[in-house]
Amino acid sequence: MRTYCYEMKNTLFISAFLCFFLINISAVERRDSLLSEWRFHLGEVEGGELENLDDSQWEQVNVPHDWAIAMPFSGDNDLQNVAVKQNGESVATLKTGRTGGLPWMGTGWYRTRFLTPQGTGKSKGSVTLLVDGAMSHSLVFINGQRLGIWPYGYNSYTFDLTPYLKDNGEANTLAIRLNNPSESSRWYPGAGLFRRVHLISAAKLHVPVWGTSVVTTPKDEASWDVLLTTAIAGTSTYKIIVETKILDRKGNVVASNTDFTSPGNDGKTEMIQHFTVSQPELWTPETPHLYRACSRIIENGAVVDTFTTSFGIRQVELKQGEGFFLNGEKRKFRGVCLHHDLGPLGAAVHRDALRHQLLMLKAMGADAIRTAHNMPDPQQVELCDSIGLMVMVESFDEWTVAKCKNGYHCWFNEITQTPKSEYPMVWAQHDIRNMIMNFRNHPSVVMWSIGNEIPQQHTEEGKELAKAMQFFCHEQDPTRPVTCGMDQVQSILRSGFADALDVPGLNYRTHLYEKAYETLPQKFILGSETASTVSSRGVYYLPFALRKGAKHDGHQSSGYDTEACSWSNVPDEDFRLQDDFDWTMGQFVWTGFDYLGEPSPYDTDAWPSHSSLFGIIDLASIPKDRYYLYQSQWCDSGTFHVLPHWNWNAGDTIPVVAYSQCPAARLYVNGKLHGEVRKLSREESEALKDKDPLWLLKRYRLIWPAVPYQAGELKVEFLDSKGNVVHTTTRHTASKPHHLQLETSYYTPGDNLCYITVSMVDKKGVLCPDGNSLVEFSVSGNGRFKAAANGDPTSLDPLQQPRMHLFSGQCTVIVETDGSGAFTLTAASGKIKGRITVPAGR
Ligand code: GAL
Repeated sequence: MRTYCYEMKNTLFISAFLCFFLINISAVERRDSLLSEWRFHLGEVEGGELENLDDSQWEQVNVPHDWAIAMPFSGDNDLQNVAVKQNGESVATLKTGRTGGLPWMGTGWYRTRFLTPQGTGKSKGSVTLLVDGAMSHSLVFINGQRLGIWPYGYNSYTFDLTPYLKDNGEANTLAIRLNNPSESSRWYPGAGLFRRVHLISAAKLHVPVWGTSVVTTPKDEASWDVLLTTAIAGTSTYKIIVETKILDRKGNVVASNTDFTSPGNDGKTEMIQHFTVSQPELWTPETPHLYRACSRIIENGAVVDTFTTSFGIRQVELKQGEGFFLNGEKRKFRGVCLHHDLGPLGAAVHRDALRHQLLMLKAMGADAIRTAHNMPDPQQVELCDSIGLMVMVESFDEWTVAKCKNGYHCWFNEITQTPKSEYPMVWAQHDIRNMIMNFRNHPSVVMWSIGNEIPQQHTEEGKELAKAMQFFCHEQDPTRPVTCGMDQVQSILRSGFADALDVPGLNYRTHLYEKAYETLPQKFILGSETASTVSSRGVYYLPFALRKGAKHDGHQSSGYDTEACSWSNVPDEDFRLQDDFDWTMGQFVWTGFDYLGEPSPYDTDAWPSHSSLFGIIDLASIPKDRYYLYQSQWCDSGTFHVLPHWNWNAGDTIPVVAYSQCPAARLYVNGKLHGEVRKLSREESEALKDKDPLWLLKRYRLIWPAVPYQAGELKVEFLDSKGNVVHTTTRHTASKPHHLQLETSYYTPGDNLCYITVSMVDKKGVLCPDGNSLVEFSVSGNGRFKAAANGDPTSLDPLQQPRMHLFSGQCTVIVETDGSGAFTLTAASGKIKGRITVPAGR
């Protein structure tokens, strides 16, 4: 039976049915089918698009698919001889592992067959191909005929397949050729059909992909206006009725409208509907309430299409001199930048992996993400809507001037006829347009970013381009502000580039914030990219001192969170700017998770380094200590984290640090009081500026700089402002490895991916902090080994083989399951073993 609105509750269905029982249902039902089974060939294929090509010997793959992620790492895969200008380099040097050390370059062909959906094809109904993202330079064919190209790998695109389809029930051949040029990326881009591919079938008269737009504005104290614009494709000689009901999260109808329109001859009709919702539940990161607009398109008494638009009721505003407001309340972003790769899963997107990342960030107190430096997967934004995270959707890392020899600048200014448009547009416009149409109804999206560290920031041409791009964004979406991440801060203050933007976004350069504030007309500054602190989980270098560009044997950076690159800084500097100046708008930390590629400071002739050290959370999705430093600032209470581990050599003197919201703490070694410390106030810390290199760290961290090491127990008592003990954290010296402890991480029964942390522990369950042995995995029951990672940026263990070395005693295994039965993961390192059984999810 046909429902009025997808996902509608039964009770609603009954009432909807009663209201609409006189209306017939047209033959073509709107369907969104995922094309997931494909044949794949790595390398060029002459005639790869031809219908009669025999592809039976090609590899069978499931899309989303990343052809490079399971391959062996090698320094030869992605050598680049370049000067990375934004890192201050002027002379070219050999860059190793810059894009992850995996073979993502070259050509790959994908082919699949599908039957013409019932009632569609030729003049009967419509079928649209929607690709959420394909890396890269898509060349798309249907039944041997070329449909067109889409160069940018991160963007979603569509093609109308209708005129090319065979008759009902006959098979069609869809072929997509992808090509990744060398030197086209600064990080691991992934390779292949790495996001979902949809076939959307509907009646001839239908709402096209991304065809609705919702704008919500406060009307009065008690109610909000909702403006829904619905595009209708196709022609008709009849008047068209659009019936829309607005449903709240419980399925109650809170507003409804029925409107008429006469379709134009050009096949494009637009219906605008107004609603008023009383006492709405507003969307905020803390209360991510969603509504649905369920529309029926009725032609000559028959429902020809149904369309559901998910949205939130909320308003975004900027106020000069004050900053960013959500629903009238000022807030500062507690955000992180994210690259798109999912560690050992590569760029092949998986909803549960995205969810796992976002839940970890949410638990850290983050309220926003920046999709650096490109369009996100649509599922990530859907998840942000429902989990409650704001999103800055970013578009480009390059405009017309190259950062990479074969990067997006090659396409930015090319006029193209591929996607149809009312007037000739360049690729940059098509890409921005698709981005905005794709994401404009998501309440989580609060800002567009037109670029990151665009090389021509300092020029007049750069400023004019920024203005034009911002104008183009406003034309597509007048409701959201536009920003751009800028690193040439002195220059942009002179060139006027920053003045032109709704939101001036500074990348690093903490020492120039005050000057920027004084100079710029907006009178607020966003930390569009901050910190770039480098650290490795569980690795601690002495002495405890602030260092820039430090390099160590073993290619790790200190877990004490005291190291950064020449252009970057430790988190405390950003906390200070956010705390002390009203006009700061918050920050987006570089980065939430480690990612493949960009292994600074080990990027020049430093193989085997090949993944980043910037992450607050490592490539294995295990938090580094820094996670708790951010949590102590971004959550009101509940953080009681002590570092480092407590396995040192007799006679060592070890700095001990605690991250907490508590103002003070007492430290004991084997029961004996070592000392009580408290955080410095702002004034106390500023007074020490020229006297103590740790003046700022002492404001945000509890530090015992020299604790004589004795094996046994380290205990920290956390004190509230009155001196009461509110929590005690202990760290013990681990004895010899005894067993492997396996624990699920953020797993909800029913998830299709289960993340399991594997830890080498002693007899009492204490983590062996230098554990680095090889562990083998096997899965029995209703699960399949999918991938593993250890968070070591130098590890060459393949990411999709069931074995992995531990790093600082730990690694992560990802098991795929359909949830219909339990599975058991067994881990073994020689005689040392561990297992976990995860019950059925459904
Ligand atoms: C920024 C850049 C990021 C990343 C980061 C590393 O300048 O925008 O993409 O490279 O530096 O610190």
